[in-house]
Amino acid sequence: MPDQPRPPRTAAVIPAAGRGVRLGPGTPKALRTLNGTPILVHAVRAMAASRSVSLVVVVAPPEGAPEVKRLLDAHTLPERTEYLVVPGGETRQESVRLGLDALPEGVDIVLVHDAARPLVPVETVDAVIEAVREGAPAVVPALPLADTVKEVGPAEDGGPEPVVATPVRSRLRAVQTPQGFDHATLARAHRTVTGEVTDDASMVEQLGPGVVVVPGHEEAFKVTRPLDLVLAEAVLARRRANDGF
Ligand code: CTP
Ligand code: MG
Repeated sequence: MPDQPRPPRTAAVIPAAGRGVRLGPGTPKALRTLNGTPILVHAVRAMAASRSVSLVVVVAPPEGAPEVKRLLDAHTLPERTEYLVVPGGETRQESVRLGLDALPEGVDIVLVHDAARPLVPVETVDAVIEAVREGAPAVVPALPLADTVKEVGPAEDGGPEPVVATPVRSRLRAVQTPQGFDHATLARAHRTVTGEVTDDASMVEQLGPGVVVVPGHEEAFKVTRPLDLVLAEAVLARRRANDGF
């Protein structure tokens, strides 16, 4: 019998090494709890919920890797999912690179997912993976904006900031995670692109065209400020009421 082509192997890298300064003083953001379960555990489960994801690499606060490993060992995750914990870096970009460095041979597709987006639905994760399988080098889940966006210039002499432009709102998208990548392309982007970036796909954009968006989801919002914790717990309560989740 001819060899069947092996299905692409998909891994998720979860940067979770940030402090969460905007959330206020206290435990590092990824270890704060929502309904008693750490944000990070919700995020790992959200990736593991996809049947395509067989490995999750968690990038922990630099001194916190053993504690994060114990935490994941103590929470139930699907049996098919392996996980690794590695220490992170000073910036998100560095943390992602350290996570990528820990990936074993044979990973074809990589998702990069913020620990701070614990509630992304599995449908969004699968849509991102599917678009990478169909050939896009990088895929970002994205939503249209509710607010109009202004570009401003520097304020002069303590006066108000001048507005310099208003981009056409209908062409703008707010992007979320997981962002999905052809592994070789993302690895090349991390080796060659220098300078600061605020998301992973923008590094691949610098290599060339082909980065695409798929529909994002309102529940994939990033837990950033205190009010986001209230919203996240409300989403969990709604899920429990709707389907016994
Ligand atoms: N992150 C990381 N390593 C860093 C900084 C951020 O792994 N040095 C991760 C965070 O843990 C988070 C994700 O990147 O899951 C998105 O970053 P953000 O929401 O900005 O989280 P923080 O940087 O922790 O928050 P803040 O900017 O408010 O301090
Ligand atoms: Mg940050």
